[in-house]
Amino acid sequence: MKSVKKGTIVFSVIAIAALLLVAVGCDKSAVPTPAGTEEAAATDIAKKEVEKIGLYDIRPQPLHSAAQCAQCHIGVFDRIKDVGGKHQIECVDCHTQFHMFNPKKRPYETVIPQCETCHGVFHGEGTIEAPLVDCDSCHTDPHAPLIIPGAVLSNNACKSCHTKETKQITDNVSRHTTEVACADCHHVKHGYIPQCNECHESHSPEYAMDDNACMGCHPVHMPTKITYSKKDTPNLVCAGCHTQAYDLLQNNYTKHTDVKCSDCHAAHKKIPLCSECHGMPHSKRMLQDTKCGDCHGIAHNLPVN
Ligand code: HEC
Ligand code: HEC
Ligand code: HEC
Ligand code: HEC
Ligand code: HEC
Ligand code: HEC
Ligand code: HEC
Ligand code: HEC
Ligand code: HEC
Ligand code: HEC
Ligand code: HEC
Ligand code: HEC
Repeated sequence: MKSVKKGTIVFSVIAIAALLLVAVGCDKSAVPTPAGTEEAAATDIAKKEVEKIGLYDIRPQPLHSAAQCAQCHIGVFDRIKDVGGKHQIECVDCHTQFHMFNPKKRPYETVIPQCETCHGVFHGEGTIEAPLVDCDSCHTDPHAPLIIPGAVLSNNACKSCHTKETKQITDNVSRHTTEVACADCHHVKHGYIPQCNECHESHSPEYAMDDNACMGCHPVHMPTKITYSKKDTPNLVCAGCHTQAYDLLQNNYTKHTDVKCSDCHAAHKKIPLCSECHGMPHSKRMLQDTKCGDCHGIAHNLPVN
């Protein structure tokens, strides 16, 4: 990081003055006296420096680099450095005027940079009722343009950019549609992904689950569309709600005890037919007037003969 110290300008002037002093000392007649030019002025100053370097005998340069601004505005500088993203440009590119604010003569609004100066195209145009014109209602800090507090964004705003997720959540009505706003979950800041346990306890605490496991059954934007994998769904998750079925299978050991819940119940609430796995195990005559269950009880508790 290039760093320009406060004294640099003053120092340079002194240095020039010193050089000129040497020149003057060598050959007074060789010093030209061009009138009305920058050099003349500098020479004039330099001459005065011969006697004494006066406090005001300098030509200050305007502040221009971020490093200079940072000498006083270290907070703003650090913020841009850390989270300014593509706004890591010179302060004065935006602040073409600064230190002009005067509560009586120049209202604050007239000295702050306008987004339109550099950003012509407003996004969101045409996708919702109104284009997103009020930039700072979302981009609340121009020094951190992508840190957008979740709370400032309404469902309508989200909709203008995230049509896919919005459609999914409104087409599959659940209590995540009716009772929770997008920004209730995606709070803190734009893009934040919530944890289920911020709002829910597990219904199956016997089996530790991460959020991906929860979402394996509950796609979060349509949580009542329960789907689960036949292979990777442990019985203990089902047991959280179906204690009786689980206990029966555990307490009465049969070969069904080793079959997974999800193997028989391939989808939630689906009851399988015995024949899906066993075909026709007995003669037609034997099964004429009886059902499997008449002799074998229930699948969770096959009587052992
Ligand atoms: C992309 C444009 C942009 C850049 C780059 C930028 N600013 Fe700003 N700055 C603004 C805008 C817009 C505001 C007005 C924010 C408001 O108060 O609504 C502002 C406000 C300020 C303020 C007054 C409010 C505050 O936050 O303290 C200071 C001081 C300031 N900027 C300093 C700087 C400095 C120093 C730099 C460089 C290190 C810088 N800015 C870079 C756009 C910019
Ligand atoms: C020697 C200290 C100093 C330096 C260097 C400095 N500022 Fe400031 N600046 C201040 C002070 C003091 C204020 C008023 C208090 C405040 O808002 O923090 C101020 C206020 C501001 C403001 C808000 C009010 C207004 O009138 O614009 C902006 C914007 C700003 N500075 C930008 C800059 C930029 C850009 C630079 C570098 C090009 C810079 N400052 C360099 C001290 C400094
Ligand atoms: C002096 C010009 C300038 C001004 C004024 C300005 N920006 Fe930018 N902004 C830029 C540049 C340059 C980029 C990078 C653009 C690119 O790469 O496409 C940028 C990028 C951004 C980004 C994306 C940042 C990122 O890291 O991806 C946002 C958001 C943004 N600007 C918002 C604003 C808002 C809001 C305002 C008004 C408060 C504003 N800008 C004012 C120059 C400016
Ligand atoms: C309703 C909220 C909202 C409003 C209003 C809004 N923006 Fe944005 N803007 C966003 C969000 C959210 C992003 C995406 C940020 C990300 O990529 O994480 C974004 C991204 C950007 C980007 C970078 C990505 C891109 O599309 O190029 C720029 C530049 C930008 N906004 C500028 C502006 C300007 C200028 C205005 C005002 C004319 C404005 N925004 C108004 C919410 C808003
Ligand atoms: C102006 C357009 C815009 C608006 C308004 C907007 N977003 Fe985004 N959002 C984006 C863009 C662009 C990205 C992609 C950023 C990236 O890939 O880094 C994004 C990314 C996201 C992500 C994904 C982050 C990740 O890690 O993948 C989530 C979640 C998100 N937005 C939620 C929301 C919610 C909720 C709202 C409303 C409260 C909203 N957004 C409003 C443009 C917007
Ligand atoms: C109940 C909490 C909750 C609600 C309500 C919610 N989301 Fe999400 N959203 C999440 C979670 C959790 C993820 C992460 C999903 C994943 O990892 O598969 C996510 C992911 C996203 C993503 C990123 C998708 C991707 O593929 O990366 C976007 C964009 C998004 N949500 C937008 C929205 C919008 C817009 C709304 C409102 C219409 C909304 N969300 C409502 C919890 C929620
Ligand atoms: C910001 C809070 C919040 C977060 C985060 C959240 N939910 Fe919810 N969820 C709710 C609320 C509120 C309800 C409705 C009341 C209830 O059932 O507790 C709900 C309801 C549900 C329902 C029942 C839906 C219905 O219509 O009956 C399921 C399933 C659900 N959430 C799963 C999840 C999963 C999985 C996650 C994580 C990916 C998650 N939730 C994250 C707040 C949240
Ligand atoms: C094996 C699939 C499965 C997994 C994994 C799963 N759930 Fe569920 N969840 C369900 C079923 C089935 C229901 C009951 C749906 C009904 O009532 O018809 C349910 C209901 C819910 C409900 C509604 C309220 C209630 O308790 O009845 C919430 C909230 C919920 N689950 C959150 C979670 C969370 C959080 C996780 C992760 C810790 C999770 N679920 C993991 C299948 C699962
Ligand atoms: C969060 C609680 C919950 C979880 C976890 C859960 N279920 Fe359910 N299950 C229910 C509810 C509630 C019903 C509806 C009960 C009713 O209609 O009487 C149900 C119904 C069923 C039915 C149909 C019952 C009937 O009488 O027709 C079967 C079969 C079933 N679940 C199997 C499973 C399997 C297998 C798993 C694990 C992959 C599982 N459930 C996980 C809550 C849950
Ligand atoms: C998802 C497949 C599946 C379904 C559906 C199914 N079974 Fe089975 N069943 C099995 C498997 C696997 C075995 C063990 C076979 C073996 O080891 O030879 C078995 C074994 C049995 C046995 C022998 C038990 C023992 O411990 O010796 C009986 C009796 C039986 N099943 C009856 C039924 C009845 C009655 C139904 C319907 C209510 C049914 N099954 C549904 C998979 C299934
Ligand atoms: C009239 C009574 C009766 C009916 C009805 C009946 N079974 Fe059986 N089943 C038996 C008897 C008895 C056995 C032999 C038990 C033993 O060997 O322990 C048996 C054995 C079985 C076995 C184990 C075979 C083996 O090789 O270990 C399966 C599987 C089975 N039955 C499935 C079914 C299915 C599926 C149905 C319905 C389609 C059904 N049974 C209907 C009485 C019946
Ligand atoms: C071998 C296949 C099979 C296995 C394994 C199995 N079920 Fe079932 N389940 C059935 C059948 C078949 C029925 C219908 C009743 C009957 O005919 O036995 C049923 C009924 C149910 C019912 C509704 C009636 C009741 O008993 O409450 C629930 C809930 C249920 N099963 C949950 C589970 C759970 C949870 C597991 C794992 C712990 C499981 N099942 C394992 C085949 C199976």
